[in-house]
Amino acid sequence: FDAVDIIRIKRDGGTLSPDQIDWVLDAYTHGGVGDEQMAALAMAIRIRGMGPRETRQWTRAMIASGERMDFGTLSKPTADKHSTGGVGDKITLPLAPLVAVFGVAVPQLSGRGLGHTGGTLDKLESIPGWRADLTNEEIRTQLEEPGAVICAAGTDLARADKKLYALRDITATVDSIPLIASSIMAKKIAEGTGTLVLDVKVGSGAFMKRLADAQELARTMVELGTAAGVRTSALITDMSAPLGRTVGNALEVRESLEVLAGGGPPDVVELTVELAREMVFRAGQGEPDVAAALHDGRALDMWRRMISAQGGDPDAPLPTARERQYVRATKSGVITEMDALRVGYASWRLGAGRAYKGDTIQAGAGIEIHKTVGEAIVDGEPLFTLHTDDPERFERAVDVLDGATIIDGNAARSRGSVILDR
Ligand code: URA
Repeated sequence: FDAVDIIRIKRDGGTLSPDQIDWVLDAYTHGGVGDEQMAALAMAIRIRGMGPRETRQWTRAMIASGERMDFGTLSKPTADKHSTGGVGDKITLPLAPLVAVFGVAVPQLSGRGLGHTGGTLDKLESIPGWRADLTNEEIRTQLEEPGAVICAAGTDLARADKKLYALRDITATVDSIPLIASSIMAKKIAEGTGTLVLDVKVGSGAFMKRLADAQELARTMVELGTAAGVRTSALITDMSAPLGRTVGNALEVRESLEVLAGGGPPDVVELTVELAREMVFRAGQGEPDVAAALHDGRALDMWRRMISAQGGDPDAPLPTARERQYVRATKSGVITEMDALRVGYASWRLGAGRAYKGDTIQAGAGIEIHKTVGEAIVDGEPLFTLHTDDPERFERAVDVLDGATIIDGNAARSRGSVILDR
């Protein structure tokens, strides 16, 4: 095969054969096809798209480029959740222990954050002593007992994706449904989970800004998972406003602990419970009352065991930022919009996120949201508390938040479900 021919076929709107797809991804993984040729192919795919058979083959070839894990010999079924990413999305933290309470092992292999969305590992690393890097043997042991593990995805899963995702990031080719779907699903299928529940986000803080695109992405991913023998389903959920009332690493751990103790913001609780129900049911464990485990301490107990198993101290105080500043409402009324993207970006500017891979982040930095969409606020009341170690960052965050919230003097209080479609 020749990379130039393959690029030309896709550029002209043709269909790639399974052999061509296998060859080009294998050659890219091993250096025979360079970044410049793969960038051209990714752009051709971004513009021309791929059909369902091409996308399935592309996903298979991505899986074949790396290691594949297998939890088939565990004594219990496995279920994992993947979210396409959003602002204030800490759901994995309460969800993994909650699902594990019901005899379903949760292998939640996660990543670090880049840009305005936070990474699950960054959040957990604010817990003193907690360790993200586990060997495959440690993962397996922890899946048996206590039953849930949130850790770093090994660098050997879907190796082609590591290179390709970094390349797409700098060539304006991230936002292609077949490329996103195959990138996510290759990693999740290679991870070896039996059941997968997808949380596909839509709205300003998400990859997908329009409901129809989120639905297409969800459908594509469910088809890929099902074709690979993974029981896969998807919820489409709202990411126009931040999830919950905290954005930032330690702040989000604190909020997750409130949920695990039976409290917490209604949207975070709703999504945690819905996803847990779906995972437990699809994994074949029936329809138990999952919400009860948040109230009677079983989920919190599982959390403590899960954190301790990875060296974390569940009783240690969480880090806090040195400086705080309020942002106050400039009008009275009901909040009708709060732009998730801008809140995420402001939190990033306060030090909660990184601009480059390997940047250090501030565990205590971020934003507390005092009033959210659907709630009433009075002129001069605190809307946000900004947290950072460096006071010079306040001004940059305030600039981004200016205009992010719309307060309507005549609107009625209301709050819809975060779940928009299944
Ligand atoms: N997340 C991924 O892992 N891959 C994509 O392509 C987009 C989001």
